Amino acid sequence: MSMKIPNIAPEKIPAHVAIVMDGNGRWAKARGLPRTAGHEAGEAALFDVIEGAIAIGVKEISAYAFSTENWRRSPDEVKFLMGFNRDVIRRRRDQMHAMGVHVRWVGRPKRLWSSVINELEQAEELTAKNKVLTLNMCVNYGGRSEIVDAATALARDVKRGKLSADKISEKVFSRYLDQPQMRDVDLFLRSSGEMRTSNFLPWQSVYAEFVFMDVLWPDVDRTTLWKAIEEYSKRDRRFGKA
Ligand code: FPP
Repeated sequence: MSMKIPNIAPEKIPAHVAIVMDGNGRWAKARGLPRTAGHEAGEAALFDVIEGAIAIGVKEISAYAFSTENWRRSPDEVKFLMGFNRDVIRRRRDQMHAMGVHVRWVGRPKRLWSSVINELEQAEELTAKNKVLTLNMCVNYGGRSEIVDAATALARDVKRGKLSADKISEKVFSRYLDQPQMRDVDLFLRSSGEMRTSNFLPWQSVYAEFVFMDVLWPDVDRTTLWKAIEEYSKRDRRFGKA
């Protein structure tokens, strides 16, 4: 870790960084290892990034740990990823708490192992009052299903007379999303060189800046995050204004 923390004006630091942790499989394949070894190697990368995020002043991280599409992987890999998520959350819970991290689960219960839900809920309860950084663990998360579920709940409230259809605004709609408190995404990161968003936080990322990092997830560390934030700090964000 040779790079020192870059000197960036506080208002140029992204408050919310969304991360697609891609390239574990390719990292493992390049070493003649099973794909699961790549996921295992990705754990250290995530926690180094969280430490680097706290050091530079990021307030919220959303990590895509398992998508609603990941069920299409081989049964063995799905089983591994479920058990791995459960174990990582349990193993890192006290460390997260000591660092002042508030862990939250973002995603849906359908199909998700109850042992994973249980660990996520316990971590959430333990860390609920922490204020240093919020970590949204996106496990069994899908952007379109988040929006469809929000629309369903909203339609129900309109039908029950709790809400008038004319009163639906972006602000009202966002109250029905998985985590109404979630900030809009400022910086959207994806490792491994792939340039797509893969159904991750579409509602929240409409004005995000995108940085695609040419490094496989297990090779990412805090300096990779800091370099991406340096690039972000040079962007001109206009939000539709001239
Ligand atoms: C993408 O790599 C990674 C995922 C499917 C998400 C899981 C992420 C991790 C296990 C990293 C650390 C997470 C935690 C919870 C500590 P890929 O399998 O798509 O790689 P490939 O594109 O090279 O095949």
